[in-house]
Amino acid sequence: MNSAAMANKVRRPAHVTDSLVYEFDYNKDAEYCKDPHARAADLARNAPPIFWTPFNGGHWMFQAYGAVADALRDYQAFSSEHFSPEAFASMMVALPEEERIPAPVPICIDPPLHARLRHPLYSTFSPKSVSAREGEIRALAERLIDRIAGTGRCEFQHEVSDIYPVEIFLGMFGLPVEKEREYRELAKRHLSVISPDLAENMIMMKSIATVMRETIIERQDNRRNDIISLLWSLEIDGAPMTLDLMLSYCVILFIAGLDTVVNALGFGVRHLALDAALQRELRANPELIPSASEEILRRYSFVAPIRIMKKDYVFHGVQLKEGERVMMFIPSASVDASIYPHPTVFDIRRERLSHLAFGTGPHICLGSHLARLELKIMYETILNKLPEFRLDPDHPPTFHGSIIAGPSSIHLVWDV
Ligand code: HEM
Repeated sequence: MNSAAMANKVRRPAHVTDSLVYEFDYNKDAEYCKDPHARAADLARNAPPIFWTPFNGGHWMFQAYGAVADALRDYQAFSSEHFSPEAFASMMVALPEEERIPAPVPICIDPPLHARLRHPLYSTFSPKSVSAREGEIRALAERLIDRIAGTGRCEFQHEVSDIYPVEIFLGMFGLPVEKEREYRELAKRHLSVISPDLAENMIMMKSIATVMRETIIERQDNRRNDIISLLWSLEIDGAPMTLDLMLSYCVILFIAGLDTVVNALGFGVRHLALDAALQRELRANPELIPSASEEILRRYSFVAPIRIMKKDYVFHGVQLKEGERVMMFIPSASVDASIYPHPTVFDIRRERLSHLAFGTGPHICLGSHLARLELKIMYETILNKLPEFRLDPDHPPTFHGSIIAGPSSIHLVWDV
């Protein structure tokens, strides 16, 4: 189904009662695109905790924390397989090697195969291997902030956020820095891998694989101290790594770690710009930055993964049918008042700082240690190098919706 067809409203299926229908278009809802978290809080207050929306092909929305957490863990009913992995593999085998499209693994694979494909990646993204990169990540953050510090203003998304995770990725993966611009373009054009529009995802994954292919092949026989070399050394079920799987891993890791970090940073910096007292507190007590970063991830959660029903199922009292799509609306689950008292209040000392921003269950974010380190270092660097900053009153922030919602522009000003 292409995006235009999915955007149209569809008729309510017979098993969905009127009381469970609520109109919300995650791509185009005007309020969501104006301020995703104001709208998510409004939905959490006013829409049913589980509802069906006729937009984007018609699908369920889970917004209660309990429903989202239970469903993300229940892979036997809620599948991540937007297509059959066997059908995909046999289709690709029939194509010449350079025309194959990388499979979105492990994100679109259900257990038990999922665990076999995810497990080899643990060592790559463990806290230990991630913290070994701290020096280079900090040097990059400092370079980016030094570049804007003297100007007194910036559009943060374009001048800092967009560049940061792409450069980190190129460094960690040992990809040629000369291609930075090309990767940045790809990153800008890319759609979320978790998008329901598989055809668009596939085209995008193929174009990223094409850019990476040469380096990946070259690195097979010329190992270095980078993640591509490390991935080549992995075995899958005792068998040596293959080029197809290498391309799949590299593409998915590139995509998954980009606009997630970009958006998290944008929301975080916008919050800081609006909260001068918090800036002062964190500058005086930098050891509080990790708690602030967690509260930013909770309060401004922005990923909403999609699952496909594997069977007819009564879940939290609601009849769901095989083949239906369900959006796990983490932005609302993160402000569920039954879990977080005064959920829209930003409080770095709240009793429960844990959240669903990185998902839960078998697909819980593999890059969370890296993401947390990138965020912490960038917040530390900004607070250290910039004086008190605020939103530019002439250019208010702009946002976009979608499965991964985020800021499109955050204009900041400060005194120089
Ligand atoms: C603030 C930043 C990030 C957020 C909020 C985030 C969020 C998420 C969420 C919610 C999922 C679960 C998707 C699902 O259940 O379908 C996920 C999965 C994943 N993330 Fe992240 N992510 C972030 C950064 C990163 C980074 C930096 C990387 C690595 C470079 C990464 C790699 C992955 C991978 C590979 C998966 C799939 C895991 C699997 O299917 O087993 N993420 N992420």
